[in-house]
Order: sequence, then C-alpha cells, then structure tokens
Amino acid sequence: MKIIESKNYLKMSHTACQILAEQIGQNPKIKLGLATGSTPIGLYNRLIHLNKKKEISFQKVTTFNLDEYVGLPATHPNSYHYFMRENFFQHIDINEANTHIPNGMAYDLEKECIRYQQVIETAGGMDIQVLGLGENGHIGFNEPGTSFSEETHIISLEKSTREANARFFDNIDQVPKKAITVGINTIMQSKQVILLISGETKAEAYNRLVNGGITETFPASILQKHKNCIVLVDQETTFQITN
Ligand code: F6R
Repeated sequence: MKIIESKNYLKMSHTACQILAEQIGQNPKIKLGLATGSTPIGLYNRLIHLNKKKEISFQKVTTFNLDEYVGLPATHPNSYHYFMRENFFQHIDINEANTHIPNGMAYDLEKECIRYQQVIETAGGMDIQVLGLGENGHIGFNEPGTSFSEETHIISLEKSTREANARFFDNIDQVPKKAITVGINTIMQSKQVILLISGETKAEAYNRLVNGGITETFPASILQKHKNCIVLVDQETTFQITN
C-alpha cells in the first residue's frame, strides 16, 4: 500500500481526482469501480468540474458501483442509484447504459448477485476501484467476518454500519438490514485500488489498516496484499494517531 497524506479533505479529493483524470486520459474506455457515502463526494465534485471544463470525458467510461441496499427502489433518496445520479452521473457526459449498480429490488436477489458478477467479469473487471472505509473496516459492504474469497453477494449489515448510515435516514429503523455488495475477491482483482479515508471517526480503522495484521475480521486489511493500492488519507484522520 502506498499512503499519501493530504492536509485536508479538499486536497485529498483533488489528489484522488488527479490520479483518476490521468488514467481516464490514458484509457478513455476505463472501467471504474465506484463507492457511495460521504467520502468520495469531493472526488466526484472535482471530476464533474474537469468534465464541465472538457478536460476529461466519460463518454466511453464504464462504471460499476460496489453496493446497493436491499429493498430501496432507485427513486428512493437513500438508494445508491439515487445517490450516484444526484452526486455524479447526471452532471457528467457518461452514457447511462455504461453505469452499473446492483438491483436491490430484484425479486430473486441471489440471481441478481450472479448477474451482477457476470456483468463485471464480462467487462474484464475493474481498472480502478475507488473505496471508502467503514469504521468497522468494511470495504464495499463486506462486513467483518466476510470471506476474502467472496464475489458479489447479499450481506446482513452490522448494527454499527446501520448506526453510521442512520445519519442519512430519519431514524435507524429505516436503514435497510441487508445489501448487495461486490465481494472482496472481485475488489482485489481490480488493477488498481484507491482507498479514500477522511475524518477523525476513521482514525482507529486507519490505524488498524496500516498497523494491524491481515484478517477477515477487518476486511480492509486484505488491501495490504494488493499490488497497486493507494491510500489517500487526510490529516483529520492521521492527527488522531500521531497525537
Ligand atoms: C459505499 C461503501 C461503503 C462506504 C463506507 C464509508 O458504497 O461501499 O464501504 O465507503 O461505509 O462511508 P462514508 O464515506 O460515508 O464514511
């Protein structure tokens, strides 16, 4: 893992954008794995900015989102379909047909996992996977204890994850209990991984990522083994460890 520490969230987002923009420039047909949540919003804002200035184009780019809640329709403001449209896709020149997100409303969820995995594999996997970090070490929605060999699957969300995400809902009871997530095996096959970490609430998880052992009880720890993983972290996170 290569660690790049930035002064603040904005700088971290700009660095992430620089890396992605360069790669998109080199490979306009790039396949990107994308995350939702608070952390990548600065990156998406910056990419939108460059797209509007015509410095990068998404016309040939394909995207695969990591996860989606089970039971929320694409029109629900807390669904990840909605999040991606609002925060990224509707502002850039991407072809909607090239954007992929698991369908948490599928009648047969197991079948949906197989279908989604096949779409990723048929495309040849991800060139770059953007990740955020859960306070409990999850990546995607791969909660602690998930096997490193998992592909796209259904997961029961931990109480701590539902509590952390309750900020987007009226109350915790509204946070879905299950989600579909791309598995760790698929994440590890991405040619490059960019892990974004910001804020003091991630300090403990960051410390464990960097200094702890590789264990399924802390899913992000597997990234220590990835050949091309860049960790972009801001000083709000690292400050908590060094002080
Ligand atoms: C979201 C995802 C999650 C988040 C993680 C951090 O698609 O896969 O792993 O990246 O929960 O979320 P934030 O950025 O909101 O702290």
